[in-house]
Amino acid sequence: MNMARPDPQQPLAGEPVLRLRGLSKHFTLHLRGGVALPVLSDFSLDVHAGECVALVGPSGRGKSTLMKCLYGNYALDAGEAWFASSAGAIDLAQATPQQLLALRRSEIAYVSQFLRAVPRVPALDVVAERALAARATTPALNDLDQPDPGEAAARERAAALLARLNLPRSLWQLPPATFSGGEQQRVNIARGFITPARLLLLDEPTASLDAANRRVVVQLIQEAKAAGSAIVGIFHDEEVRDAVADRKIEMEPLKEPA
Ligand SMILES: Nc1ncnc2c1ncn2[C@@H]1O[C@H](COP(=O)(O)OP(=O)(O)OP(=O)(O)O)[C@@H](O)[C@H]1O
Ligand SMILES: [Mg+2]
Repeated sequence: MNMARPDPQQPLAGEPVLRLRGLSKHFTLHLRGGVALPVLSDFSLDVHAGECVALVGPSGRGKSTLMKCLYGNYALDAGEAWFASSAGAIDLAQATPQQLLALRRSEIAYVSQFLRAVPRVPALDVVAERALAARATTPALNDLDQPDPGEAAARERAAALLARLNLPRSLWQLPPATFSGGEQQRVNIARGFITPARLLLLDEPTASLDAANRRVVVQLIQEAKAAGSAIVGIFHDEEVRDAVADRKIEMEPLKEPA
């Protein structure tokens, strides 16, 4: 029998999943005499469950940098990045590496244009691994209400996603290191969508895809929104952007230092 329990995908009513306030970030260019390159300044944004916000703006405005800061690849200089995790609110700007790794396993997914393939691991396992890792670390996902998919079921879900994304079956047991750009991107997308992430970061997820696969990704994004994911995306393809984005946020140019 199902016990009444709040859906772990749903944060408290009205609360954004992501609340960014006053974020700033610069890079120090060591090869150019330590000159500082400001990229983000006082950036704020709220993203709610089921909403997809598209970051727009010319090349170099800091769209990818913002995503990498939220995923914990880069440290922020200032500001707060509150994420409503299943265990409560956490400021991603202050989170420890251990906390960030735990969030990556189960609650925050990041799909970039590039796949960081692990040598010798077959594509199917690269995709399934994220589902298994989430299972192991998230008490909410181990709820008795939910059937335990186990390893075989995680592979089945991985296979279903790879089939939906038209990745030839002959590639599933091969490591993706030698795959084409579009094939690697589809492995990356399948990995990002295999567990229902509370926060999805999509950095040009359709950049190397043909029209048929772009349509599949649009469907996956719409399904994730319907399941309650909050999504921040960068979509250079306007057709894709218009199909999935609820709002566009223009990344403003920073003022030149005096
Ligand atoms: N690791 C880094 N070290 C130094 N500078 C960096 C680094 N990463 C990004 N930058 C610089 O920060 C600025 C913003 O880069 P970013 O990749 O965030 O832009 P973007 O808006 O995603 O552009 P595009 O649309 O071309 O992908 C650029 O000027 C870039 O050169
Ligand atoms: Mg970018």
